[in-house]
Amino acid sequence: MSEKILLQMKNIHKSFPGVNALQGVDFELFPGEVHALLGENGAGKSTLIKVLGGIYIAEEGDIFIEGKKVAIDGVNASHDNGISIIHQELVLVPHMTVAENIFLGREPLKGGFIDHETMEREAEKLLDDYHMSISPAAFVKDLTIAQQQMVEIVKAISYRSKILVMDEPTSSISDKEVEFLFDTMRMLVKKGVGIIYISHKMDELEQICDRVTVLRDGTYVGTNVVKNTSRDQLISMMVGRELTKYYTRDYKEPGEVVLKCENITDGKMVKGASFELRQGEIIGFAGLVGAGRSETMKCIFGLTPYLSGEIYVNEKPAKIRSPLDAMKYKIALVPEDRKQEGLYPVQSVRFNSTIEVLKSFINGILVDQKKEEEIAGKYIEMMDTKTPSQDQLIGNLSGGNQQKVMIGRWLATSPDILILDEPTRGVDVGAKSEIYAAMNELVKEGMSIIMISSELPEILNMSDRVYVMCDGKTAGCFHHSENITQEQIMKLAAK
Ligand SMILES: Nc1ncnc2c1ncn2[C@@H]1O[C@H](COP(=O)(O)OP(=O)(O)OP(=O)(O)O)[C@@H](O)[C@H]1O
Ligand SMILES: [Mg+2]
Repeated sequence: MSEKILLQMKNIHKSFPGVNALQGVDFELFPGEVHALLGENGAGKSTLIKVLGGIYIAEEGDIFIEGKKVAIDGVNASHDNGISIIHQELVLVPHMTVAENIFLGREPLKGGFIDHETMEREAEKLLDDYHMSISPAAFVKDLTIAQQQMVEIVKAISYRSKILVMDEPTSSISDKEVEFLFDTMRMLVKKGVGIIYISHKMDELEQICDRVTVLRDGTYVGTNVVKNTSRDQLISMMVGRELTKYYTRDYKEPGEVVLKCENITDGKMVKGASFELRQGEIIGFAGLVGAGRSETMKCIFGLTPYLSGEIYVNEKPAKIRSPLDAMKYKIALVPEDRKQEGLYPVQSVRFNSTIEVLKSFINGILVDQKKEEEIAGKYIEMMDTKTPSQDQLIGNLSGGNQQKVMIGRWLATSPDILILDEPTRGVDVGAKSEIYAAMNELVKEGMSIIMISSELPEILNMSDRVYVMCDGKTAGCFHHSENITQEQIMKLAAK
């Protein structure tokens, strides 16, 4: 690591109506280092990155690149200064191809027209370099979220920038893809690129980052060398207090079987899912990405049709053909990908909190604004969602806070069976422990919860029983009293 400073951001201030998102933040990046930016949901990480990307203009503060003061007054100025950013929200154009997206705004030309052939060839080369079996001619809308995320990464790297910023790049890609990404990052830093890395996954930070800068409530807390800093130290820098209890779980004897699935298949990824859920129980679903966990739950929630198999709710056969059917059986599903599945970005936090309960009131009954405020308020408080008001557009909340609103929305339908697909993805450590505490309370009150998660510690610490899925089938089940290990689960998951 050279001692020359590649990027310096000094005393950056940025506010939004009702929110001081950045209040005098400093940040420094060396060439050839991976520098983590850490902080709770809403701490100001993405805002700082958007100032660097020319999306927001800071009200105060200076930016220096290689010692020279620069004015970043727009996206182009940011590019011109050698900065490339993968934003937290994917920004690919769905109705364009992978190649068109990668070369957007810098398409190769031939005789004044876009040279599609060259563009696709170049895109293919790039994708091959990163071992990605994605066709450059595929439309982005037909890709999975993980594939879209990989295309964003390839696109950002292809600019060969001096400064590369990744705002939660691994939120939906698999472990194997994360490995590729880390290999690529190591290669880039060897060449002197400086990388800013944002993630809530502490083990990733420990693996790949040299230094870490912590933000709290829009202020600068400090910068440390990662290998000299313990996880507890980082957490207390982030949340400003010690987190004594992380997982909360009071086990009790569960009640009757409330949901039973026998041999569910969907003709695609689900090839025989069988399990049961008892009242007052949390069951965890572990497995690799692509094992069919989300797809199984989509069948149960009526989002995709199942071809064969039986679903029983309270021991009676249930016919579930749509989410409305599922809701009649008091089943709710908080989906994995909040952006594609149900977030209304240009509507208020209140609207987004209450839309599902409202649907059940709608038959001619006038919507009672006060009731709406009451419901939204209750779940904002319960999830400790950070928003200046209920009228704030949800799209303006930080990523993690959007997730909390989405969980609240489904809790508001007072389901008996709650399915949570990766509930803590993109959520900071403090908020994670609040979500765990809320889950514990909900099952105590009699709810039954299914939690899909790729984070094994969360599965192991929160579940009564753990089902492991592999290749579309439930491959086995463990009870928490068996002292389950990560190895046991991985063995079944990776068969
Ligand atoms: N366009 C906007 N309009 C209004 N408020 C905003 C806007 N963008 C961000 N904010 C607010 O600024 C604060 C910082 O948000 P930011 O997105 O930077 O957080 P973050 O640290 O990236 O959080 P997360 O980990 O959840 O992604 C939050 O309170 C957020 O609600
Ligand atoms: Mg963010």
